[in-house]
Parts: sequence; C-alpha cells; structure tokens
Amino acid sequence: MKIDLTTRIKNLTFRNPITVASGTFGTKDEYSKYVDYEKLGAVITKTITVRPRKGNSMPRICETTGGMLNAIGLQNKGLEDFIENKVPFFAEIDTPLIVNIAGESLDDFRELTKALHQHPDVVKALELNLSCPNVEEGGTSFMKKREIMIDVLKAVRSETDLPLFAKLSPELGDVVEIAGDVISAGADGLSLINTLKGMAIDIYKRRSRIANVTGGLSGPAIKPVALRYVYEVKKYYKVPIIASGGIMTAEDAVEFLIAGADLLAIGTASFVNPRATLDILEGITAFCKKQKIKHIDELRRAFNAEKR
Ligand SMILES: Cc1cc2nc3c(=O)[nH]c(=O)nc-3n(C[C@H](O)[C@H](O)[C@H](O)COP(=O)(O)O)c2cc1C
Repeated sequence: MKIDLTTRIKNLTFRNPITVASGTFGTKDEYSKYVDYEKLGAVITKTITVRPRKGNSMPRICETTGGMLNAIGLQNKGLEDFIENKVPFFAEIDTPLIVNIAGESLDDFRELTKALHQHPDVVKALELNLSCPNVEEGGTSFMKKREIMIDVLKAVRSETDLPLFAKLSPELGDVVEIAGDVISAGADGLSLINTLKGMAIDIYKRRSRIANVTGGLSGPAIKPVALRYVYEVKKYYKVPIIASGGIMTAEDAVEFLIAGADLLAIGTASFVNPRATLDILEGITAFCKKQKIKHIDELRRAFNAEKR
C-alpha cells in the first residue's frame, strides 16, 4: 500500500512532513553522510544574521535529564557567507529550503529579507527566530518586546511575499496570544516551540555546566509543552505550524500531527542519532500502513476532543 505523505503549505509542496530544527543539522553538508537531504520534506537552516557571530564561550551544550541545554549564541558566518557558500550548495538539492533569520534591529531583518528574496529558486520560506534564549547582551534580545516582534513581522512582510513562519517560545509569554499578534502583523504560520531557558549545576565545582550559566532546554523534557502549544494555536488560528520540541520517535511525530502540526522539525534527536529524521519518517510510514491510512492528512488534526 502506497502512503501519500505529501504536505502542502500555501503554494509550497513538501514530499513529506519531516524537516530539521534550526541549528541542529549543521550549516551545510555536515549530515550528508548520514541523511540523503532529498529524502527530507524540507531543510531549515541554522539562524543567519547579517554580520558573523562567534557565539558564546564553551562549554555551551550539556545533557540533562530528558533533554539537553544549549547556549550556542547564534554562531554563524553571516549573510554574505550564506549567499556565497550555502545558497549554491542548497541550489543543487531538490528539497525546499526554509531560511531561519534573526536580527539586532529592524534594518537587519529588512536586509536579510531583501537579500534572501533574491534567491526564489532556493529560498522557499523564512522562519523568523523571535525567541532565542541565549543572546542577552544588546543582541537579538531586542525582540522580546511584543511591539517589536510585530514591527519585525511588518518590516519583513513589506520586503517579501515568501511564506513567513514566526518562531516562538513560551519564554516570550503566552504563545497563543503572541501567535495572534504575529499572524495579524503578517506571519503566514508559526514555528512552535523554541527552547525553554534552564540551567544545570556541576555540584563539585559549584558552577554551571555551561559557560553562559543558562541555556535553552530541548528534547523530550519539553515535548508536552510543545504539543500543547501546537494544539492550542492550531485550534484558534488554523495556520500552518512547524512543530519542534522533543520529537524523538515516529510515535512523537504522529502525536504532533494529530495535534495539528504541518511540518515536523527534528532537533535534539539528531544529536542522539544522526539518522533520526529518516528513521522517524520510516516509522511514520509504517504506522500509516498498519493503521490503513492512505494520506497523512487523515492524521492531521485528527484529535478527538470528546470528553473521556
Ligand atoms: C544545539 C541547538 C542549537 C539551536 N540553534 C537554533 C538556532 O540557531 N535557531 C533557532 O531558531 N532555534 C535553534 N534551536 C532550537 C531548535 O531549532 C528547536 O526549536 C528546539 O531545540 C526544540 O526542538 P527539539 O526538542 O527537537 O530539539 C537550537 C537547538 C539546539 C539543541
């Protein structure tokens, strides 16, 4: 039995709903010896900023119960390098690319959008990182104010008609409320959820296990929170959602589809198993076969809200 996993969002068609969470899949070809990128539904890039960023001091990741903490601090080589070196690489790959961007000002967002808009054959959508917990000083934390997020959306919208996904975290406040604001300001969809701020202490050194003291918590520990927001945001707004937050197995992935996710972004799982994306994809297909589901849309929003 052939299972149709085709996923449609606005004018885009994805061969399946599996993608990678920003910042967890290298910056270019790092995963290519484990994963055939052309089997993925989409690739989402690590956050790109206008200027190169060195990121935070090491150590900047550590394992915790049920997850991991990271405080990478948006390390990346900047927009120019992305256009020169990454765009040509992704141009050769027959998989839609979603570029994740962040800025320190509205002008940064405009500049990033203008430049990326000029590569419509490669860049199919933008994901706006409005929610990185690891950049406090001066940097992208300027976005934490709700009015500024709205201005960012308006600024980006005025430069492009590419589909825009606003990436949010509960660190910003009530995600359901903020979702409404960013949709009104021009977002086509949401990316839910970015990491939750946390910490871990080395009890012998009495110090944080990461240099930045706090970091973003990801992995299974945040899955129920992510699932709840995907469900609630979809219920109220019916917009496309890229889900991330502890999707480690095909069963996790199916839960997110039932809650209302359109794309499923695999993050921390790729650190445990670099082939996690494709293993999850195979698991979803096997689940559909067993359940006699012909098209993946039969699972989407199949949540049964009857009282039990
Ligand atoms: C090491 C690491 C780096 C990340 N870098 C970014 C980033 O650059 N931009 C971004 O929007 N999210 C970033 N994230 C957040 C992930 O994209 C994802 O939203 C989050 O980890 C939840 O998914 P998961 O539990 O499957 O990892 C990062 C996460 C990790 C673990």
